[in-house]
Amino acid sequence: MVLGSPLNALQVRPPFREYHLIDLDGDKAVGLRKIVGNRTDVHIYPEDCNVVLPTRVFPRVRFEDYRRGLCILDPYGLHLDWKVIQGAGSMKSLDVFINFPMYDININVLHRDPRTVQQLHIERMNAYWGDESWRQFAYEESGPDLFGNTELDKVSNERFAAAFRERLRKVAGFKRVPAPLAMRNSRGSTVYYLFFASQKGTAEDIVKYIFEKFGAQST
Ligand SMILES: C[S@@+](CC[C@H](N)C(=O)[O-])C[C@H]1O[C@@H](n2cnc3c(N)ncnc32)[C@H](O)[C@@H]1O
Repeated sequence: MVLGSPLNALQVRPPFREYHLIDLDGDKAVGLRKIVGNRTDVHIYPEDCNVVLPTRVFPRVRFEDYRRGLCILDPYGLHLDWKVIQGAGSMKSLDVFINFPMYDININVLHRDPRTVQQLHIERMNAYWGDESWRQFAYEESGPDLFGNTELDKVSNERFAAAFRERLRKVAGFKRVPAPLAMRNSRGSTVYYLFFASQKGTAEDIVKYIFEKFGAQST
């Protein structure tokens, strides 16, 4: 058995004042409740984090109230709403780990031929990114070939993730966003990038130290 992020968080010392564990999958929420027991400092929601975080959790971590928080956003795929990420950035009181789901993006959105992408997946990508501007980072011109033709090629995972990193800084307003850690499968393909976003240099330095131990670039 491996402790997941919720149970790891419960073991942190000194402890957090309160914990908010959210999973859309009701069975997982019930499982968490069984493990956690009746602790009054742990709130479990079998609901959509895109609704619960902005309405019921973020208001409890206001900068003006001298509260600070750590938020772990770890969906399997493109199930996160940019409003949550931007909301976390504008709070100025939150450090955030974010799963950038490269596998889902590669399989469903970044096709070599953009015309083959289904509308449903374009909408999921728009929701995660916040608008359609991801398109301008997704493809680059290659060529010209012998006949002077240019083509559009999809960009590398690294370049696409670098564009998201810029967005966390410039649009979401996180002052400190170190290079993400690529989480790979046994064949070496990147399944997702783990991002950290914060307002504080000290938090960034700690996470950079950890990420670099696992092979993240130091830029
Ligand atoms: C990668 S797992 C999380 C693993 C967890 N971080 C751990 O370490 O044990 C992703 C979870 O996100 C949940 N999920 C997906 N979309 C969600 C949403 N919009 N709101 C809440 N939970 C969601 C899924 O049900 C799934 O259990």
